[in-house]
Amino acid sequence: MIMVTGANGQLASLTLHELAGRGVPAIGGSRTPESGQRALDFDRPHSLDLTGIATLVLVSAGYAEDDRVITRHRAVLDAATRDGVGHVVYTSLTGAGDHLGFALAHRGTERMIEAGGFGWTILRNGLYAELFGALLTWTPDGVESAFGDGALAAVARADLAAAAAVVASDPAAHDGRIYDLVGAPVTATDVADRLGVTHRAVGLGEYRARLLADGALLPFQPPMLTSIASGVRHGFLGGTGPDLARLLGRPPVDPLTVAATAAAATRP
Ligand SMILES: NC(=O)c1ccc[n+]([C@@H]2O[C@H](COP(=O)([O-])OP(=O)(O)OC[C@H]3O[C@@H](n4cnc5c(N)ncnc54)[C@H](OP(=O)(O)O)[C@@H]3O)[C@@H](O)[C@H]2O)c1
Repeated sequence: MIMVTGANGQLASLTLHELAGRGVPAIGGSRTPESGQRALDFDRPHSLDLTGIATLVLVSAGYAEDDRVITRHRAVLDAATRDGVGHVVYTSLTGAGDHLGFALAHRGTERMIEAGGFGWTILRNGLYAELFGALLTWTPDGVESAFGDGALAAVARADLAAAAAVVASDPAAHDGRIYDLVGAPVTATDVADRLGVTHRAVGLGEYRARLLADGALLPFQPPMLTSIASGVRHGFLGGTGPDLARLLGRPPVDPLTVAATAAAATRP
């Protein structure tokens, strides 16, 4: 049996949908399990039960400081070893993201996986096209961002879910492999042009100050988001690669359309 963690999150629910479409039996694990899902909260290590799971698709549980994320992932990986999981598929971060503020938790998790005693496949996911579009902010004249003229090799979340389902369906064929799953380069100006508006670049200092002034953000988020902006702006995240199309057996979805749709959704 395959289990996909974070089942009520977006990537995991799409992965479960892909697996169902392939006729591959799988269950979801969730902090708030729905009917047919198993309770799974990495922050409650003594409650973790992975008995009967042959393949675990571990969707990263980020959105926290490194120590918290690594502790979470260690807990579920310890449970995987203890309960005899045969193969772990981990949704990690693209190699080009090594300098990003949240890279360490992913690389630390990869190390734990490689030492876990089970088979493994690491999916180094690029940044979502949906995220790129959502990070553009609207002004009366168009959109603003700190991305400058830099490009992101953005990838549709649904393509990453499809790739995870391909690997989970036949894990032995992907044992010990690290795939770098990035899309095609998209700039903020590309998105603005698609929407018929202008793009204005703001500096990283102004961007960070705005984030710090946003009372809704958690402390780890301003440095995390500023690191994404700096990486895109300075050309570190625009490189493409063949792994995604090879795994999918088709060209990836156009990330510009996905990013533009996400940006349009936040238009006041
Ligand atoms: N590549 C990118 O651009 C990008 C962008 C943002 C995030 N990410 C990373 O990719 C992951 C998946 O993305 P997504 O879009 O699906 O995010 P999402 O919709 O926010 O889903 C994340 C899910 O992680 C699960 N989770 C959180 N804390 C957990 C815990 N303590 N124990 C067990 N499960 C926990 C939750 O599932 P349940 O609600 O079912 O418990 C949550 O819904 C994120 O968690 C984050 O690490 C990647």
